[in-house]
Amino acid sequence: MLKLFEKETLALESLSDEQTALDVKNLSVRLNDSLVLDNISMRIPKNKITAMIGQSGCGKSTLLSSFNRMNELHQHYAYSGEVIMDGRNIYSKKENVAKLRTQVGMVFQRPNPFPMSIYENVCFGLRIQGQSERRELDEIVEQSLRHAALWDEVKDRLFESALLLSGGQQQRLVIARALALKPEVLLLDEPTSALDPLTTLHIEELVSQLKHNCTVIIVTHNMQQAARVSDYSAFLHQGQLIEYSDSDSLFTMPEKKQTEDYITGRYG
Ligand SMILES: Nc1ncnc2c1ncn2[C@@H]1O[C@H](COP(=O)(O)OP(=O)(O)O)[C@@H](O)[C@H]1O
Ligand SMILES: [Mg+2]
Repeated sequence: MLKLFEKETLALESLSDEQTALDVKNLSVRLNDSLVLDNISMRIPKNKITAMIGQSGCGKSTLLSSFNRMNELHQHYAYSGEVIMDGRNIYSKKENVAKLRTQVGMVFQRPNPFPMSIYENVCFGLRIQGQSERRELDEIVEQSLRHAALWDEVKDRLFESALLLSGGQQQRLVIARALALKPEVLLLDEPTSALDPLTTLHIEELVSQLKHNCTVIIVTHNMQQAARVSDYSAFLHQGQLIEYSDSDSLFTMPEKKQTEDYITGRYG
């Protein structure tokens, strides 16, 4: 089974800027005055899959949404630190946040297709960007659905409502919707927690292929999943980054006792 997921990892300490998708520097986040992320620094490698693991409430979703500035939608939000992407700090005042959110796409726990056709779901973002040429849209829709491993199942019903798809198909559809914008980074927040085991495996295989197109960061509370699909894993505890390394090392010989306790199920 492990064969499904090809892995090849570089030492995190020696990643060059070119090999880094996101360079997180001393990032702290407060929500409603409580410290939710505490001085996180990490380099996220390009075209790899990085998993975020840790107990519920440890800050995984907050960290993920700090990569496309979705946290700013909270009312009582404060941050310090930097996130560097392609040589610029995405928290700079000059940042175009709408554009950032197309470069850093996000998929949530529950699939959220829009109440429109499969086709229109996939080209939703493109239409907002002003693309309307039919041939171009057709091409991107097909390519995105192929990358999301959904094309064969829906190619004959592109103009049916997306709401008629199964849960697993809907999740692949929203992944296709994100891919249509050609993101550099794709954030997946517990993308399989509402799905059955077989569909989960299907999505895992898909995720492992996505790294050829973009950098993938996945939050999961399923440790087998993190060990199976991710190249790197980060263990968070109470807003702090406790351990971060290639997944094989983290899951077979964790350096910190807290990590070991978590992955062996002593708490969590
Ligand atoms: N809008 C909010 N206001 C205040 N606290 C919040 C808000 N959203 C999340 N939190 C708190 O931030 C912490 C981290 O939440 P979250 O990032 O969702 O954790 P995880 O995804 O690891 O379960 C939790 O303690 C949670 O209660
Ligand atoms: Mg969460």
